This record gives sequence, structure tokens and C-alpha cells, in this order.
Amino acid sequence: MSVAKKEYKRVTVKSLIDMKTNGEKISMLTAYDYTMAKIVDGAGIDVILVGDSASNVMAGHETTLPITLDQMIYHASSVVRAIDRALVVVDLPFGSYQSDPKEALRSAIRIMKESGGHAVKMEGGKEVKESIKRILHAGIPVMGHLGLTPQSIYKFGTYSVRAKEEQEAKKLKQDALMLEKAGCFGIVLEKIPAKLAMEVAKSVSIPVIGIGAGSGVDGQVLVTHDMIGMTHEFNPRFLRRYMNLYEDMTNAFSQYAEDIKSGDFPSDKEQY
Ligand code: KIV
Repeated sequence: MSVAKKEYKRVTVKSLIDMKTNGEKISMLTAYDYTMAKIVDGAGIDVILVGDSASNVMAGHETTLPITLDQMIYHASSVVRAIDRALVVVDLPFGSYQSDPKEALRSAIRIMKESGGHAVKMEGGKEVKESIKRILHAGIPVMGHLGLTPQSIYKFGTYSVRAKEEQEAKKLKQDALMLEKAGCFGIVLEKIPAKLAMEVAKSVSIPVIGIGAGSGVDGQVLVTHDMIGMTHEFNPRFLRRYMNLYEDMTNAFSQYAEDIKSGDFPSDKEQY
């Protein structure tokens, strides 16, 4: 069922909670640079995530672990300069919040001060509860992230669906309630069974945004480079590709090379 959309000139954490209350689904995409963020924001996407997936997508690392706080701040500040409407959420990278709550707060403050982002996202449940609380006490909005948490990939061993077993599903539900109680404004659920994700979304009053978590949640997020088909080796079931830019760009680049070699480019009209 589609719901009449209320206009939000500027999306805030409060607007997202309103959207959930009104049954309006939330759209979220990643961006790591000014040009992409400008297009994503102009298209009316509600939330832009400066994800630590920049580590894979922008830097070519195998995991999200290597990206640093300084690099996240660089990406986030480029994104923030492009935005008129969307809420900008910035991932706290691996190693910037796990050791203790004071360090977590210092990292979150650096992101807010130096990038101008509007909120931070961090992976994990009760293990990071004290850090989440400390950041929230400083007035910084926090989004949680449960299910497949890529910063713990070496603990999981694979990127397969999480929380299929009762015990892990139970902990995930408890963690979601804890995140809501602590004061988080939203939760990302990554790659878990759709039925479990729907139960979680129904059990909390804050928005639950899914990636590979089915249709029963309050919104969806995808990595932009995957959904526009700039990447082409990553093909999980949950990924809908809206374009095939890998092919289009490859064709454009090889045409350009051919035009230079043949002397077709530049033409008389393309010079002074
Ligand atoms: O870093 C990221 O892009 C993310 C999304 C996959 C939710 O955390």
C-alpha cells in the first residue's frame, strides 16, 4: 500500500520517526563524494549514508576494516557540501569506538565537527551500549546496525545471512530493544531473515532500515555503486540493479580511446 508523502524540506531524525509513524517508507543510499551526493540528494533520497563501505568501493580494500577516521571525515565533508535536503549519517569506522566510551565520543565529535554530518552509525548491540549512551548524551544522534555487521567479518568468517538460529535471533531482538531504549533514532538491519526483520520493526517505535532484510521494515538502503551497476562482481539476492553502468562506462571509455586513436576526437567543432 502506498502512503501519501508529506513534504520534508530538510530531513531530520525527527522526520524519519514521523515517516515511520505515518507508514511512509524511508529511502537511503550511500555516497562518499560531492558529485554522487549531489545527484542522490537531488533525486529526493531521504538519508545519505557515508558508509565505511567506502573502504571497499572507493579504496578497493577487501573489507571495511582498513578505512580510518580521517578518511571517513574526508568523505563525509565532501558529501555534506552537496546536500540540500537529505539527512547525512556517517559510519564510525572500525577501531574508532570499540575500545572505550571516551574514545567513541571523541571519534563521534570529530565526525560532527570536522565533516558537518548530522548523525553517526555504529555496529553492534550490547557490546557497544556504553559508547552509544555516551555519544547520545553529547547530543549526537546515533543509528544502530545489527545482523551482518561487516566490521566483525573475521569473527563471522563469511558474509552469509545472520540470525537464522534461534539464539542469535533472540540476541538481535534484545539488542534492537536496547538501542531503542538507549535513544538511537534508527537501526540498520543487514542480511537477516525477512520474518525476523519484520518482527523487530514492529517491536520498536524507531525506524528500521533494511539491506537484505525483506520488505517488512520501515525503509531500504543499498550501496549506490551496486544499485547503479558500477560494481559488477557482487551479486547478492537482495541487490536490485537499476542501471548497468559498468557496461555503459566501459563502452564509453573504449569509444573515447578509439576516437582519439582514429583522430575523430576532437573534431573541428570541439576546438578553439
Ligand atoms: O557501509 C555501508 O555502506 C553500510 C550499509 C551496507 C548499510 O553500512
